[in-house]
Amino acid sequence: MPISKKLEAAFNDQINLELASSYAYLQMAAFLDEENLPGMSAWMRLQAEEERVHAMKFFDFVLDREGHIELAAITAPGLSLTTALSAFEGSLGHEQKVTAAINNLYALATDERDFASYPLLNWFVEEQIEEEANVGLIVEQLKMIGDDRTALLMLDRELGARQPSAEGE
Ligand SMILES: [Fe+2]
Ligand SMILES: [Fe+2]
Repeated sequence: MPISKKLEAAFNDQINLELASSYAYLQMAAFLDEENLPGMSAWMRLQAEEERVHAMKFFDFVLDREGHIELAAITAPGLSLTTALSAFEGSLGHEQKVTAAINNLYALATDERDFASYPLLNWFVEEQIEEEANVGLIVEQLKMIGDDRTALLMLDRELGARQPSAEGE
């Protein structure tokens, strides 16, 4: 069954939001590189890749459901980055916004009785729990670290060890 026009529009918006997320993570990656925190920068680069994979999940779903893709302009990240903590707090705020958007998609799919969207949206519901938990932990650890440069460098090493995942998880 083809996707409804309402859901098609909402999924197109979500593709834009995921790509805007990717763009924001690239800005954070650049900032952290400039701050001489290559591990955190690498973590953000992987995050940017993941967001692109997320966009493609919606992209392919809309096409599989005989929908139309209409790509829109991607807004500039507009982040004011001053410290590693500000970058990860920006990330957390962004993920919370994405979670709200996924919840709205779920509500819309329910209104439209589009149960075929549920498996995809369920994947994203779980993914957002993980995203918020991961970033939330880093934010809390950066708060603990405060002005301790040694601890900051240790966390940078740890985050730099993150491996890419195939599924965008
Ligand atoms: Fe995402
Ligand atoms: Fe995300």
